[in-house]
Amino acid sequence: MDFDLTEDQEIIRRSAAEFADEVLKPSASRIDANSEFPAENIKAAARLGFLGVLVPEEFGGSGLGHMELAIILEEVNRGCASTGVTLSVHNSLVCSPIVRFGSDAQKKKYLPKLSSGEWLGAYALSEPNAGTDAASISLSARESGSRFVLNGTKTMISSGSKADVVIVMARTGDAPGAKGITAFIVEKGTQGFKPGAKEDKLGIRGSDTSELIFEDCAVPASAILGRRGEGFKIAMSTLDGGRIGIGAQSVGIAQACLDESVRYAKERKQFGQPIASFQAIQWKIAEMGTRIDASRLLVRRAAFLRDADRPHTRESAMAKLFASRTANLCAFEAMQVHGGVGYTKEFAVERLFRDARITEIYEGTTEVQNIVISRKLLE
Ligand code: CAA
Repeated sequence: MDFDLTEDQEIIRRSAAEFADEVLKPSASRIDANSEFPAENIKAAARLGFLGVLVPEEFGGSGLGHMELAIILEEVNRGCASTGVTLSVHNSLVCSPIVRFGSDAQKKKYLPKLSSGEWLGAYALSEPNAGTDAASISLSARESGSRFVLNGTKTMISSGSKADVVIVMARTGDAPGAKGITAFIVEKGTQGFKPGAKEDKLGIRGSDTSELIFEDCAVPASAILGRRGEGFKIAMSTLDGGRIGIGAQSVGIAQACLDESVRYAKERKQFGQPIASFQAIQWKIAEMGTRIDASRLLVRRAAFLRDADRPHTRESAMAKLFASRTANLCAFEAMQVHGGVGYTKEFAVERLFRDARITEIYEGTTEVQNIVISRKLLE
């Protein structure tokens, strides 16, 4: 067993770290304050090959795996979590299912544009009455000749109003629950499909989170991703990958909290000495560092298993569960290390505290990860 990154992975990590330090960190606070979608960051990420990480080279991608994606996402999220989640969704919830389940025609049509950044992707599962209980979605796709007509609403969709391509889970049959759900690829501009209200959020304020409305939106049968009726399995196995991405995002946010805490603890003096010399602070730093290392190892184990095509549902849920809790613990302690100034917008930890919160909610809450893990352990 080898815990080191390969030479190529280290080059990728360095390029993502440089991007985070030189481009993302300096603009993160402005993006947050203005709820500004980080379009320029996404373009710059595309130039680095970060929009087609999982896409084979023959379709214009970088031909890499979830391990490399996790390495990139950790660094990107250390700089800006709004940019980070946009990249995570695009790569792991949109490109990945098209690579895994798409027809040749779908791969040729979508992957080159998604990889180059010409098109951005979104993944639409949640509905007003179907969040954690994802199998209860009701958006309908009624068969009509050679087409399917979509009616219903999706909610809380990351990149929803910015996306050019959306993977939409819809009900194509009368079968209840997970059966009878089919995944569709729907393009922006399709008649009857429009974004609705945009959410005003606590954190990751630069990321776009929107409602999507489908009113008699007709798509051809060729828009089906994978097989009819297999949509729930596609959605869940896609989230097995997405959760590794959110785990990596959590590690990045947690690392930023630790970096800020170490820097401040060495600078800030109280009782005539840097606060880093006090055990109360040292123990916080030690716990943060240990939990971050454990989270990173869990994320990389899950990525390794997914890349090796081995079962990883439990491991991906564990990585997301532990890393997201770590991000929140580190954000809490980082603010504690900073004291009063950490509660102000002058210091990055205030934004990190707000950004960390969502990692325990989206792509399956902490409680959902516990369901997934315990079911696997009790099988
Ligand atoms: N891979 C493949 N198939 C899977 C699977 C997986 N990981 N998990 C379940 N399935 C299959 C099952 O084998 C089963 O198939 P059979 O009927 O053939 O046996 C079928 O799917 C139904 O599975 P379950 O009985 O486990 O379904 P459930 O209704 O009990 O699922 C749940 C419960 C785990 C809570 C699930 O609903 C869930 O994960 N909910 C959370 C949803 C979620 O994560 N939403 C995130 C939205 S996207 C997002 O957040 C993106 C963003 O903004 C950043």
